[in-house]
Amino acid sequence: MLDLLIHNATLPDGRTGMGIAVLDGVITEVTAGLGPAQAPAHDTLDAEGQLLTPPFVDAHFHMDATLSYGLPRVNASGTLLEGIALWGELKPLLTQQALVERALAYCDWAVAKGLLAIRTHVDVCDARLLAVDALLEVKRRVAPYIDLQLVAFPQDGVLRAPGALDNLKRALDKGVDVVGGIPHFERTMAHGAESVKLLCELAAARGLLVDMHCDESDDPLSRHVETLAFETQRLGLIGRVTGSHLTSMHSMDNYFVSKLLALMAEAQLNVVANPLINITLQGRHDSYPKRRGMTRVPEQLAAGLTVAFGHDCVMDPWYSLGSGDMLEVAHMGLHVAQMTSQAAMRQCFDAVTVNPARILGLPHYGIEAGCDASFVLLQARDPIEALRLRAHRLKVYRKGRLLADSPKVSTRLHLAGRGENVSFQPD
Ligand code: FE2
Repeated sequence: MLDLLIHNATLPDGRTGMGIAVLDGVITEVTAGLGPAQAPAHDTLDAEGQLLTPPFVDAHFHMDATLSYGLPRVNASGTLLEGIALWGELKPLLTQQALVERALAYCDWAVAKGLLAIRTHVDVCDARLLAVDALLEVKRRVAPYIDLQLVAFPQDGVLRAPGALDNLKRALDKGVDVVGGIPHFERTMAHGAESVKLLCELAAARGLLVDMHCDESDDPLSRHVETLAFETQRLGLIGRVTGSHLTSMHSMDNYFVSKLLALMAEAQLNVVANPLINITLQGRHDSYPKRRGMTRVPEQLAAGLTVAFGHDCVMDPWYSLGSGDMLEVAHMGLHVAQMTSQAAMRQCFDAVTVNPARILGLPHYGIEAGCDASFVLLQARDPIEALRLRAHRLKVYRKGRLLADSPKVSTRLHLAGRGENVSFQPD
């Protein structure tokens, strides 16, 4: 007897009328037509032709800062640097309990939105490592329903901030998963390059992944991504390193980028763009025209790189909006990168599902036999409709267990001579 049987589901690759059989938290069979629909099961679900997708994955977030908007004050200029200064004001006021409670509240939002894996950076520049301890506790507590991966992030610069390297190593000793960095925030370009080198060497020595905030500026000459790709190759970290933001690539000379993309491809450097944040924080020194300030996503995809869209911030010193909705993130990425073809829109959906899953190294991810029975039923019939509608989440499952559900959304009309309901899904 199966635990769960879903029938008449549409999958992201376009297959329709699919049946999915689940036993002991694992997908045992995915078949077209009736197939497993005839098998007995404790629970059945008619997907009614709607899209069943693997869970959303966020490859770049700051869970130690989330839901702190307005504490101790609001970011008046809206700039990255005022955000960093504001975070510096907030840090001494933080308590472990408040950090844990805000992070858990965000994880509730994430589950409701079908977001079941998050890579979060955690600031290690506070010698107390308060945020590290808080997020390690949150990681343990949410483990039954969210895969939380932590990055040791020296927000104030691993070379620039006294004691930061020692704090970062202590965070890794405590169980933080990934080595982070912020080379563009070091005092000089040379220090930035030096920080990339030493952090990559540290990761290589410990057998860890790397994910650095890199070149998050509009400076066309900020080229730490070049050093990052080079060190990745030199140290044999191929495919294990991620460059987050890379916004300076937007402003770089085109000839240099053509050379750089080849180097990045050789290193199999992963990329995370954060469209909601990049479109609001970058270009702040421009008059008109104002640069978009997002990295070159279509060109990176064409070069064969794995590219994800991250949320980065929700209601914190840098960003006052957001709700854990990765479809909103992808929707913004699609617009900023002008990825409007059918194929490109599907790539945008991949950038919040399969691509970040690959970057995080999530095992058993996908809707195939042998994968975890973790998926989200959306009120949409394909990935493009899901993006258009920022589709409502009908059901969220993790390893065969229902984590969240809600009824279909529809609005009743009161118009003479027209239908009763409107669903925004044309026939
Ligand atoms: Fe970030």
